[in-house]
Amino acid sequence: MKNNIEIKNKIKRFNNEIFVSSDKSISIRSVLLASQAIGISKIYNLLESEDVLNALKSIKKLGVEYKKKNKFYEIKGYGINSFDPKKNSTIYAGNSGTFARLILGLLVNCKKEVKLIGDKSLSNRDFSRVIKPLSLFGANFKSNKNLLPVKISGSNFLRPIEYYERLGSAQCKSAVMFAALKTPGITKIKAKKSRDHTEIFLDELNVPIKIKKGKFYDNIEIKGLTNFKGFTYNVPGDISSSAFFIVLTLLSNNSQLKIKNVNINKSRTGIIEILNKMNAKILLKNKKKYKGELVSDIIVKSQKNLRSINCPKTFNSSAIDEFLIIFLVAAKAKGVSSFKDLGELNNKESPRLNIAVKFLRKIGIKVVRQKNDIKIFGQPNINLSGKFTIKNFKKDHRVFMMSCIAALTFGGEWKIHDKNSVNTSFPEFLKIIKYLGANIN
Ligand code: S3P
Repeated sequence: MKNNIEIKNKIKRFNNEIFVSSDKSISIRSVLLASQAIGISKIYNLLESEDVLNALKSIKKLGVEYKKKNKFYEIKGYGINSFDPKKNSTIYAGNSGTFARLILGLLVNCKKEVKLIGDKSLSNRDFSRVIKPLSLFGANFKSNKNLLPVKISGSNFLRPIEYYERLGSAQCKSAVMFAALKTPGITKIKAKKSRDHTEIFLDELNVPIKIKKGKFYDNIEIKGLTNFKGFTYNVPGDISSSAFFIVLTLLSNNSQLKIKNVNINKSRTGIIEILNKMNAKILLKNKKKYKGELVSDIIVKSQKNLRSINCPKTFNSSAIDEFLIIFLVAAKAKGVSSFKDLGELNNKESPRLNIAVKFLRKIGIKVVRQKNDIKIFGQPNINLSGKFTIKNFKKDHRVFMMSCIAALTFGGEWKIHDKNSVNTSFPEFLKIIKYLGANIN
């Protein structure tokens, strides 16, 4: 089947309300925590993307049953000591760094060896960031230079650790927190700021957790070996998926969009703060708390007078998955925008910093790069007319979606490869774009 799309026209003005797909980070955490609970959990609005479906198939291989009901997924757990894989089990994480790193945290006490594999992109990503701390607990690993396949065999004699997480990686922090659940005593983590869905979820489940928030670092303490009961969870929309529609609206003419019921946890809303500093005027309306997480509608209008930003590094974590799409806004803003210390972008599903620089130059935007800092010279009147083919981006879902938004707002004739990549995080992306009026072949 054809896996390319063509876009030959900008999107016309629109004024709509949409829902985006459910949050990927929370969906994966809800599946994994349900697998550790005692009893039945019901998860409504679980994201049905490949990353999450791979998580479900994997917990099944580890002995946890799940069923898809009409409106929710039902997951039946048997507690924190119950993973029971067959001998020589292999679990497949697909494209998902989050699932792959987090599940290793839950396998530190598993009695049998489990082999973890992934797709081509994931097989190039470094696992030392979790292998190191999880080995300190006492888990045993075999890998080839910290790349997949990784084999883990758990230990019966786990010891709590004190860990200093310096990368600002929520995946790494969460893997350590998951291992702490299995470990007697108190595990202490000092972690550079990153998304805090795991902490919030554990607290909601009444796991003994203490969280002290600092400006740049958080201190977390978890007392292990506490079982918790099955739960009900209703997953809100994903701000990282909303980001593409926020920018589509911002860069289109005379358009307006309301995106309903999106998770707006402060550790995820860097994009809103950055774009508002660029004169975007995005509003968060109808705010509600749900199980410790903040949720709201997002209202955005087109904005002709975007201005450049000298982006503070403090947003690097809370906008980590959104920089590709933020760079498009910088390409259209008045002035020179600068972004610093973005090396972590090259450790994602594709080397995103390298790919973004190449992409922007390809469409005629001047970019100056010094190591992991970039300056983008905006062109407020950008109006492309050439032909552009976007391929060889390691099937990175966010590169695909960013390319579509560029095509629909900057003009030109585009051929974009690997449309199936959206199934990783946002299966409904093309359907929603078409609903808003985009002409896509
Ligand atoms: C995620 C954390 C981030 C992010 C990823 C999802 C999570 O990765 O890029 O898409 O759900 O914990 P890092 O923690 O490696 O920065």
